[in-house]
Amino acid sequence: MKPALKNRSIENIFLMGTSGTGKTTIARWILENYFKEISTYVNCWKYRTTHEVLKEILLESQIPVHGKEPTGELTKILEKTVKNRKIIVCLDEVDRLDEFDLLYLLARSGHGLILISTRCHVLASLTTRIRSSLALTEIEFPPYKTDELYDIIRDRVEFAFRPGSLKNEFIKIASLAAQGDARTGLEIIRKAGKKAEIRYLNEVTMRELEETINEVNKLKRVYPFDKLNEHQKAIYDILEKKRKLSSGLLYNEYCTTMKRPVVDRAYRNYMRRMVNLGLIKAEGKGRWKTYEIVM
Ligand SMILES: Nc1ncnc2c1ncn2[C@@H]1O[C@H](COP(=O)(O)OP(=O)(O)OP(=O)(O)O)[C@@H](O)[C@H]1O
Ligand SMILES: [Mg+2]
Repeated sequence: MKPALKNRSIENIFLMGTSGTGKTTIARWILENYFKEISTYVNCWKYRTTHEVLKEILLESQIPVHGKEPTGELTKILEKTVKNRKIIVCLDEVDRLDEFDLLYLLARSGHGLILISTRCHVLASLTTRIRSSLALTEIEFPPYKTDELYDIIRDRVEFAFRPGSLKNEFIKIASLAAQGDARTGLEIIRKAGKKAEIRYLNEVTMRELEETINEVNKLKRVYPFDKLNEHQKAIYDILEKKRKLSSGLLYNEYCTTMKRPVVDRAYRNYMRRMVNLGLIKAEGKGRWKTYEIVM
């Protein structure tokens, strides 16, 4: 990424890896410390449409827009800035974007891109036109090893816990239970500490630890469900009962359960999102497509 400091082009980068492997943390840390003035960070879960993302990029780059401009105009403004100043655009959770044409547009504009996702197959679904214009260099973030998690958690415990209030062997248990995911590991310890506090204990005991490990594992499984809308939930319920259905049958069934069902096209978008979330699997193409529940 160094050439960016001299206003030269950089390679576009794709950071991929499962949840809690430090992708967001490391990307933000590097941008903040080395490229603060010339970078922008956008979370595509929060800003999904091309218009929203472009507006965020421009505002973060201190380019005044009011947001009511048509998308085409925002694109032009972004393309114009590249002559004076190339920026690095980091798109986190890039698989949540409504439409991937935005990537083509950004790649063509000459700004540098850092894309982040937990789903490596998000790229496989891009058209060749977009993929080749991006020419991404992939960097994989593997799950943390247990001893790496141990170091990460112990570091944090030193800041957050009173000395002697959490045994090292409990940190070891938490790093095992977290299964490579630093967010889960830290969450286990944080919650166990809270529980001990509420119970007026001087230190965390096995009881708090066990309880939180169970809770966190349960939470992890239901986590993506929060992000589904009522239509997606209805569809998921049907699949949960039937296990596997053709796309057409599933859609019909869904239409009978909802008062105001969405049109076929929106339905397909919803399905794509649920496949991306890893909740359901798709097989086959077009009218032969079938959906199957994952868990
Ligand atoms: N190497 C590390 N050192 C210290 N803390 C870390 C490290 N890696 C991750 N963490 C912590 O773990 C948590 C999760 O990390 P982060 O948000 O970067 O994961 P992620 O790979 O972006 O996950 P997701 O794909 O779910 O967004 C954060 O609280 C972060 O501070
Ligand atoms: Mg992240």
